[in-house]
Amino acid sequence: MAHEPDERRSDAATLTLFCGLPGSGKTTLARRLEREGKGVRICTDEWQAELGVTFTDEDFHERLQALLYRHALDLLRAGCDVILEDGLWRAEERTEKFRDARRCDARIEFHVFDLPQEELWLRLESRTPSAPRERRR
Ligand SMILES: Nc1ncnc2c1ncn2[C@@H]1O[C@H](COP(=O)(O)OP(=O)(O)OP(=O)(O)O)[C@@H](O)[C@H]1O
Ligand SMILES: [Mg+2]
Repeated sequence: MAHEPDERRSDAATLTLFCGLPGSGKTTLARRLEREGKGVRICTDEWQAELGVTFTDEDFHERLQALLYRHALDLLRAGCDVILEDGLWRAEERTEKFRDARRCDARIEFHVFDLPQEELWLRLESRTPSAPRERRR
């Protein structure tokens, strides 16, 4: 049975999660946390690119995301901190991740990116001007 927060082991692994729309800064923060030694970063977009699969292949993206998520839970159970870069803007996704982390006895670090739409556009444009999203990643 999952422990309540105050019962969790002091050496429990940490699952770092993000909630944010495209361009909100998830990858930027995840890379910083990774550099600071806060865990193994898991980014489905990067794996898909490395495998040479186009980002328009959403079916592949979903299957890879599910596979990497299972791997993330294995890492947590083995005591390894994980930084999961998924956007989690749907409540059900957040509920699932919180529930699974508890089942793995892991702590949760949750970052919310709540930015005005204009700022999101500015960030997306500054990332690569005039390139469509698919080619930009
Ligand atoms: N705190 C910040 N202040 C200003 N600009 C930022 C900040 N964080 C990220 N950016 C810039 O915003 C752009 C988008 O950031 P990033 O790629 O990290 O977003 P993302 O949430 O991972 O997007 P996506 O969901 O498309 O993968 C980048 O150009 C990045 O340099
Ligand atoms: Mg990103």
